[in-house]
Amino acid sequence: MVDGSHHKSVQKFAGSLNHAMLESNEALAAQTYVNDFGKPGFQDVTRCYIQQRYEGYTPENQETWQTLFDRQMEFLSKNASQTYLSGAKKINLSRDRVPPLSDINARLKPMTGWQSRAVAGYLPSKVFFACLARRDFPTTVVIRPKESIDYLPEPDIFHDVFGHVPLHADPTFADFLQTYGQAALTTDDPAETERLARLFWFTVEFGLIREGGTVKVYGSGLISSPGESRHSLSSDSVDRRPFNLEQVCDTAFEIDHFQPILYVLDSFDQLRDAMNTYSKRLLSKKGSPVPA
Ligand SMILES: [Fe+2]
Repeated sequence: MVDGSHHKSVQKFAGSLNHAMLESNEALAAQTYVNDFGKPGFQDVTRCYIQQRYEGYTPENQETWQTLFDRQMEFLSKNASQTYLSGAKKINLSRDRVPPLSDINARLKPMTGWQSRAVAGYLPSKVFFACLARRDFPTTVVIRPKESIDYLPEPDIFHDVFGHVPLHADPTFADFLQTYGQAALTTDDPAETERLARLFWFTVEFGLIREGGTVKVYGSGLISSPGESRHSLSSDSVDRRPFNLEQVCDTAFEIDHFQPILYVLDSFDQLRDAMNTYSKRLLSKKGSPVPA
């Protein structure tokens, strides 16, 4: 969902996406607003959201959710961060059916103020950051077609809800992600935007964390990928480096293949604290006079 990530808007993949989910005047209006967002009179981020038209999910869509859930949860129960696993319990993430966002939010919002908000498609980075800054997570509602069950190059509801949302139940991660959005909104410097995209990539999407001496996955790109989650923990070809915000921001990433470099947190406190420091620096930069 952020520029420069694996979240690309137009990609071809096997099978057909269930477009019935998105064929509505509401979705069309929301996506038109997204395209104008930031211009005078187009600053209401809530107009970029749509309803999750739950009746649009087919029996095949429900089966896809269950298959993906079952394939990944057993592995994650031993190899994912406890923060992810307890978050998944707290939001009542279930194999039974594609999660209704209203059910997720009924549990999530009282815990940390975060909500999962349905969007109709790709969001430019500024809109995405504006959502995060108000503790809204833009959420894809469609699910991958059965033919693409192993690999989808763009986010779907499995990536966004199964992969991302459980961490939003953790107060420390919740603070980090909002601060990230606020900081990213304050800068128009392309170099800083690039650094922020790298930070997002190596933490929110592909982060590892050490818990009780063992490395675990927490990034949603790993959590939602059976292939890469296993590879990230067991392959000798992955360079697992201790997290350091400056180094992360200086590390270019490549898309469309397994990540050769990953960063390992000591704790989510470490991530939140590093983000707070970075955010203060960005704010003071903005406040300082521009040299003539
Ligand atoms: Fe993602």
